[in-house]
Amino acid sequence: MKVSIIGAGRVGSAAAFSIMHLASVNEISLVDIMGDLAKGEALDLEHAANALDRDIVIMGGDGYGIAQESDLSIIIAGKPRAPGMTRDQLAGDNARIIKSIIPKLDTDKILVVTNPMDVMTWVAFKESGKPREKVFGMGGVLDTARYHSLGGEGLVLGEHGDSKVMPDASLAQKLIDINNDVITLKKGTCYGPAASIGIMAQAVIEDTHSVLPCSCILDGEYGLEGLAIGVPAEVSSNGVKVVEYPLQGEQERDFRMSADVIRKMIRALP
Ligand code: NAI
Repeated sequence: MKVSIIGAGRVGSAAAFSIMHLASVNEISLVDIMGDLAKGEALDLEHAANALDRDIVIMGGDGYGIAQESDLSIIIAGKPRAPGMTRDQLAGDNARIIKSIIPKLDTDKILVVTNPMDVMTWVAFKESGKPREKVFGMGGVLDTARYHSLGGEGLVLGEHGDSKVMPDASLAQKLIDINNDVITLKKGTCYGPAASIGIMAQAVIEDTHSVLPCSCILDGEYGLEGLAIGVPAEVSSNGVKVVEYPLQGEQERDFRMSADVIRKMIRALP
């Protein structure tokens, strides 16, 4: 199995390290417009693979030749949030970056991480022309991990942003705050996202059919269509299959409001 990572910055390089630990991958390619950065990260990761006694071919550079025939391409290229910034403020610039990357990919499946992730997943789906099960986004696994760190139980769904939806809504503000704390303190996030990407890549590569919260393109499920939003999905080597989960009362109302937030951002795209 071959995984390509587009964007070898803080999260992209850590994601490669995480995938190396979690998934039985044979090849990892890192592509970044900063070619030397991708090459350097690949070299460093190659040393890590040797130390771990893992037989993985790792390449880096600024050309897409090394990313040909990928089973999974993970897009983590683009601008990150600066302290005080919301994810949607990144939408225009990062949509242009996603649109420039998609035509260069030679891949079966695309996992989108770039923020605002649900909107960028929608952009990748539209630009790639792939079936919807092949294009999905990472946000819910991370939000759920953070929610559990606060004592919450169950899955975090909806937008990977401030309108996210969780079983215990009283934890909502705390969840936003702990995420902002990481960004304020270390000017970005890295290990949490990387581990979450690793979990999703593992489910794809090892065909585990695990049910994970993923940003999926909906086509009537939950009464919604024309957007990507966080829902439970079965993740396998074929991609994602939406699982319909009964939402009730406040959770259902909040999920619809979250969908409206994403749709508004999609409509505002350049
Ligand atoms: P970073 O600035 O460390 O890395 C971004 C990399 O993208 C840079 O190395 C840059 O050279 C590269 N890049 C920019 N344009 C490119 C292009 N056209 N082709 C290839 N590479 C390109 O940023 P970081 O912290 O790694 O974050 C990356 C993205 O991931 C941001 O949008 C951030 O908001 C998002 N993110 C999403 C998370 C999620 O849960 N979905 C969690 C953490 C970050």
